[in-house]
Amino acid sequence: MAKMASASPKFFYNALGSRIFEAITALDEYYPTRTEAGIFQAAAGQIAGALADQGLGRPCLIDLGAGNCAKALSLMPVIKPRQYVPVDISADFLRDAAGQVQNGFPMLDIVAVGMDFSAGLVLPGEVQPDQRVYFYPGSSLGNFQPAQALEFLRRMADPAQGKARGLLLGIDLVKDPATLEAAYDDALGVTAAFNKNLLRNVNGLLAADFDVRQWRHVALFNAGQSRIEMHLEALSDLTVRWPGHARQFFKGERIHTESSYKYTTESMTVLLEKAGFRQIRHWTDPDQWFAVFWAAI
Ligand code: AVI
Repeated sequence: MAKMASASPKFFYNALGSRIFEAITALDEYYPTRTEAGIFQAAAGQIAGALADQGLGRPCLIDLGAGNCAKALSLMPVIKPRQYVPVDISADFLRDAAGQVQNGFPMLDIVAVGMDFSAGLVLPGEVQPDQRVYFYPGSSLGNFQPAQALEFLRRMADPAQGKARGLLLGIDLVKDPATLEAAYDDALGVTAAFNKNLLRNVNGLLAADFDVRQWRHVALFNAGQSRIEMHLEALSDLTVRWPGHARQFFKGERIHTESSYKYTTESMTVLLEKAGFRQIRHWTDPDQWFAVFWAAI
């Protein structure tokens, strides 16, 4: 049997994809965003205390995958950064979002960086060299394979590679499959549109001719791997063409577009320790659906 086709989830995030993702975060079924926000609110004082314990009174907040910057905005009064560095692959979207943060905080020093940091983070010279804190909310770490997640965390925690002092991380937790699957297959079909938009983006980038109407969205929890998988499934036999190439798909054949790994507080603690972080603390919501971690370097 032919190897299952796959596409990198980074192809979700063109300008339209970033907007659709923003809509996902407002869905009833997509609990991670509001649950994380609730934890940030409830634990604000303790999070500020954890940073203060490390002497991080006025840090440089490096927001990885900042998107619309909403999560960092809600934490500004708690973390009181001296400098804010939103980093996102979707540069145009980021520019608008950073502009809105600047309107709300005219005195804040903001350095917006449009880049794909998954392979390595290179920050411009204007970024403050000391008191750096990584902010990686929204369970984006869950979109890495566990081995890649470890590698990514190791690079963050390596004092030789960066000058950061700690990481504030949001991660989604394992829970019942029905809740997980609904979060990735909502009744309005917003996540389906997000998934199919990947094909439109690939058409634009590769001059391919995917027809989104020939594909259906599939989301399932793979308990063995502790991950939600998103796929696009061909509704009929079809051929996709792009310059110099043609690829046939049979009815029911799938393209694996995303994995979203779900952790336990124990498995994430072990991963952070393995990566070299120390003084690890975490906070969860009453249902234990999501966790926010502070890990010092
Ligand atoms: C960005 N990332 C953490 C989201 C997730 O939950 O894995 C992406 C997403 N895919 C579908 N819905 C949301």
